[in-house]
Amino acid sequence: MVRTLHVNLFEMACVSHIVHGMWRAPENARHRVGELTFWLDLARRAEAAGVEAIFLADVIGVYDRFQGTAPALRTGMQIPNLDPLSIVPAMAAVTTHLHFAVTASTSYEPPFAFARRMSTLDLLTGGRIGWNVVTSYLPNAARNFGLSEEIDHDVRYDKAAEYLEVLYKLWEGSWSEWAWQNDAARNVVTEPEGVRRIEHDGEHFRVEGPHLVQPTPQRTPVLFQATGSERGLKTASLHAEAIFIGGRNAAETRANIRRTRQAAEQQGRKGEDLLFYVMAGLIVGRTEAEAQEKLERYRQFYDVEAAHVHAQAEIDLRECDPDITLGEALVQKNASFGNMGRRFGAEQRVGDALTQIAHFDEGRYFAVGTPEQIADAIEVWLDDDGIDGINLRQYHSFETLDDFAQLIAPELRKRGRLKPNPSAPETFRARLSGQDRVNARHPAHSYKFSPMETRFS
Ligand SMILES: Cc1cc2nc3c(=O)[nH]c(=O)nc-3n(C[C@H](O)[C@H](O)[C@H](O)COP(=O)(O)O)c2cc1C
Repeated sequence: MVRTLHVNLFEMACVSHIVHGMWRAPENARHRVGELTFWLDLARRAEAAGVEAIFLADVIGVYDRFQGTAPALRTGMQIPNLDPLSIVPAMAAVTTHLHFAVTASTSYEPPFAFARRMSTLDLLTGGRIGWNVVTSYLPNAARNFGLSEEIDHDVRYDKAAEYLEVLYKLWEGSWSEWAWQNDAARNVVTEPEGVRRIEHDGEHFRVEGPHLVQPTPQRTPVLFQATGSERGLKTASLHAEAIFIGGRNAAETRANIRRTRQAAEQQGRKGEDLLFYVMAGLIVGRTEAEAQEKLERYRQFYDVEAAHVHAQAEIDLRECDPDITLGEALVQKNASFGNMGRRFGAEQRVGDALTQIAHFDEGRYFAVGTPEQIADAIEVWLDDDGIDGINLRQYHSFETLDDFAQLIAPELRKRGRLKPNPSAPETFRARLSGQDRVNARHPAHSYKFSPMETRFS
């Protein structure tokens, strides 16, 4: 059977998300992210393009490691940054098939209010919601929520595990399927026997319950996660239904997928319960020359300073000798490695690190060319690398989306590589895996409502 591609549009409610400086390109609408019409335009276009979901990234602090807060502000590097959950209802109101994955952190805000907000979204959108589970990595985020420094990496994951447990109890276990009745004849809105408190009393959280929202189409939203660590892999392989993966070639990506599937199997799930996404950059033209010209045009606007901010660089690599190692450069500048370890190694040459920071047109999941060439690349990623989907990187709003709609999607459809929209809207999980609710192997399933535990009869 021909494998089809799942497509998310990678978004963030800020001017400069990942391809920095591009907002200055003519006609780029990024400066409109604070206007409702931007999101309505985006959602309508995405649905028409055959994009399955808008994936909203998020951070809850400012990137201030590179020369303080000013460079982030000046370059629009993920600040200002609007609340992703609040944007979804507007987009949902003007679409029927489009799904939405929102990023939210397990580290700082208690789970009860988040469970309620997500259930509200799932209910009002007819189950078109996913959650990108993150533990957050910005020191400023910790300081915004009353802590003096970041919670240790692995402790963040311990907290995430308990956070998820609380959410599953609320989403899956607090309300029976039959509790919400609206039976005027009997004067019963909700059957008390069908609802229970969760009475969670753990190491990090105490939550009495009950959940404040009735069962929603998916109950638990579709769970996405990205991880680069062993501890993260353990969490993602247990909980996530879609995982971000990478690799420098087909063999490496396949190995990463295999390793993650094995980790899932060791925890009682099946390898096929997980879908794998990569972040992909696609620059297309009607001819090769047109595509190259577009790439060159985008390159001109790339902002290397903003890229330093995003990389949490401790020093300005442009001022260093490109032939020394990053470790040597840091010693010369009397700086520490800080958070740069997320992307760089001390033994790496400064020149390499700068190339890595200053380019967006590299790597296994970047393709530039005609619609046929782009579709060829995607077919290889699907068939050889074994990926299931992409988060489509935006260079230009709305040129990237319109290019996908007009040039790439038709070619993928011709090859049977894009699933058409169903005749009736379906939940996000049904779209991805064929069923509305988590499957029996997912940890959330074990928290399902049991009438034996009724508390309100
Ligand atoms: C495609 C993709 C999207 C991500 N989006 C976010 C995000 O929106 N917010 C965030 O705090 N982290 C985000 N991350 C970072 C991951 O959540 C995670 O912290 C990172 O992959 C490192 O893994 P670790 O936390 O296990 O060390 C993203 C990572 C990838 C690959």
